[in-house]
Amino acid sequence: MKEMELVKWPFLKQTWGIEFERSEGSYLYTKDGRKILDAAGGAIVSNIGYGREEVADTIAKAVKNNSYILPPFLTPEREALLDELREHWLPPHLTRIHLSSGGSEANESAVKLAIQYQSSRGKAEKNIILTRNLSYHGTTLNMSGISGHVARKRGLESYVPKPTTIETPYPLRCPIGSFHPEAKEYYLDNLRKTLKKIGPENIAALLMEPINGSSGGAITPPDGYWIEAQEILRENDILLIADEVMTGFGRVGSDFASNLYGLEPDILIAGKGMGGGYAAIGGTYSTDKIADSIQAAGYEVMFHTFAALPQSCAASAEVLRILREENLCERVNPLGDQILQKLNSEIGQHPNIAEIRGKGLLIGIEIVEDKSSLTPFDESEKITSRIMQQGLEEGVFLYPGGTGEYRDIICIGPAFTIGDDEVDLIVKATKAALTTVTQN
Ligand SMILES: Cc1ncc(COP(=O)(O)O)c(C=O)c1O
Repeated sequence: MKEMELVKWPFLKQTWGIEFERSEGSYLYTKDGRKILDAAGGAIVSNIGYGREEVADTIAKAVKNNSYILPPFLTPEREALLDELREHWLPPHLTRIHLSSGGSEANESAVKLAIQYQSSRGKAEKNIILTRNLSYHGTTLNMSGISGHVARKRGLESYVPKPTTIETPYPLRCPIGSFHPEAKEYYLDNLRKTLKKIGPENIAALLMEPINGSSGGAITPPDGYWIEAQEILRENDILLIADEVMTGFGRVGSDFASNLYGLEPDILIAGKGMGGGYAAIGGTYSTDKIADSIQAAGYEVMFHTFAALPQSCAASAEVLRILREENLCERVNPLGDQILQKLNSEIGQHPNIAEIRGKGLLIGIEIVEDKSSLTPFDESEKITSRIMQQGLEEGVFLYPGGTGEYRDIICIGPAFTIGDDEVDLIVKATKAALTTVTQN
């Protein structure tokens, strides 16, 4: 009788054929003794690198002191994180903190707050969450539905909510011309027209990534777009929710990407870098105005059972302290510029590279079959996952991004602690992986 094959991990069978034993600094060590540079900090998570003893000790202390306490009660571990966030990171207008176990949950909480806020003002019909045609906000059913990430909702389309979207400003692929000087106006016009069509009286908020994460691979909008978009939203009484799960806590060379664009979001969301991979944690930060209105209406803001776990709070506070006291965020722009510059000089002219782009240490490389028409490779070619796989052979982990029509994007987002050797290795391995895959 044929033996049943055990699919050990993950849920769906994969062909990676690689097992990791441990990690340290910005390197991953495989079971068969290889050392691989993590050029993507996992899923753009590891800002301070792996295996820091101070964080491990802090977590152990927290578990001994308070392994579990109901989320709404204050503990020293929670207080340490709240103080760290308020004193050193959060924009001063975002005074209220709701914690959860990751980015998707934090986004769900943000959407709930926005809807409850509008309802608490007697505007229950203002309940549409506008998103962007290219975006990713998480893997829960609602986030799968309203995100603009077609690959991650396959097979769910009949069930999840249909998104109401504006166009994601995408300078390379602007419909009126690549890098068109009127691109900003084009996309603002799209926002205005969408609001007019749907009716601002029906829209609670715009949920957006100020700079696209993996859905588009570090797409930055045309200069001046966000500040004008914020103005349009304010004029129409629509909240701005900034999803900074990937961009938050220094990743793009500023505490938050919103700061780069002069934005004052009504709600801001963080995850990933907030715990640097040491804690399963997400944060939803909002104004007093929103919280007070919800409270006055008598609505509940329910916690997830594992929200604000003392050990997660302690770990996150320690990670953020390390980022701050070791001035790691100051390394982000120079390192990012160095990688961009070297990638451009080594592979910028490659016939299959449409664009190398990014901000700080969030970098995207968009790969196409035909550069002049920006036509992607056929999906069956699986270019991005083959580059990822080949990258591992070259000793570097690269993060596959992109979705739908814009599917072949390689994301680079290493720890802020890398040095010159790692920069060179990222560039060398990316070039080698790209060359091998596009020639075959
Ligand atoms: C911008 C953005 N929002 C939300 C999420 C979802 O976060 P999580 O995977 O922690 O639930 C991600 C994850 O990649 C993300 O990049």
